Amino acid sequence: MNIVILENAAKVEEYTAALILSEIQHRPYPKLGLATGRTMEGVYKHLVQAYNRGFDFSNITTFNLDEYVGLSPIDEASYRAYMDKHFFNQTNVERARTHLPHGLAESMVDEVEKYRSLLEEAGSLDLQLLGIGNNGHIGFNEPPALFGSETRIIELSEETRQQNAGAFENNLEDVPTHAITMGINTILKAKKLVLVATGPSKAEAVAGAIEGPLRASLPASAIQLHHSVWIILDIAAANQLKLQTYYHRQAANSTKIQEVHDYIDKYMRS
Ligand code: F6R
Repeated sequence: MNIVILENAAKVEEYTAALILSEIQHRPYPKLGLATGRTMEGVYKHLVQAYNRGFDFSNITTFNLDEYVGLSPIDEASYRAYMDKHFFNQTNVERARTHLPHGLAESMVDEVEKYRSLLEEAGSLDLQLLGIGNNGHIGFNEPPALFGSETRIIELSEETRQQNAGAFENNLEDVPTHAITMGINTILKAKKLVLVATGPSKAEAVAGAIEGPLRASLPASAIQLHHSVWIILDIAAANQLKLQTYYHRQAANSTKIQEVHDYIDKYMRS
């Protein structure tokens, strides 16, 4: 695992964006798995900034982790609208190569099949971006989540609906009860996982995911099964990790981690 612990959320957002840029530059047709949520807003802000400084996103294909069931893509609270607003509409990403499940499809059963097939046809994604819920979910894989799960409809937990109520003017009853999400096994098929967390509310889930046992009741712990994982944290989210000194020492000696800092200098601080 490449564990990077940075001073604050702003640095985490910048570093994560730089890691994505470096992935894109190393591949002719990068396939990215994307996430939404508050943590990612700042990441997309930096990607837009890089575009404004000449970075080209025209060759990327994207697949988002999840979407609310019952929201149309033009509903402001939908994840499609989020992606359009924060990233796609502000850069030269080819719209036809951006994919999210349709939250208001005529048949959600067919929509699940359709998204599964799309992902299968695409093959392994080069990088999968992940946030983490306070309850340890990744995507919308609520605990307990089978590590063998694939794209499916899931009932959202009360905690997650409360966590996300901000996007619905804090009206809990407006937060959809269900979502369509890539499964844990779908996520694990990506070539590289990048998990990002900031703030104290994530500290317990982060510590469990990295240093705790593998368990369905902490879906994010499944990342331990993957061969290439990056975890980008601020001090608050890293707070309950026991081996912090070790992670800092490893990071200081890692050329891979230093390479990403070069991208920050090139695209974000010029
Ligand atoms: C969103 C997603 C979720 C979020 C997680 C963290 O596409 O897959 O797993 O990443 O709920 O959300 P924030 O960043 O809002 O705390």
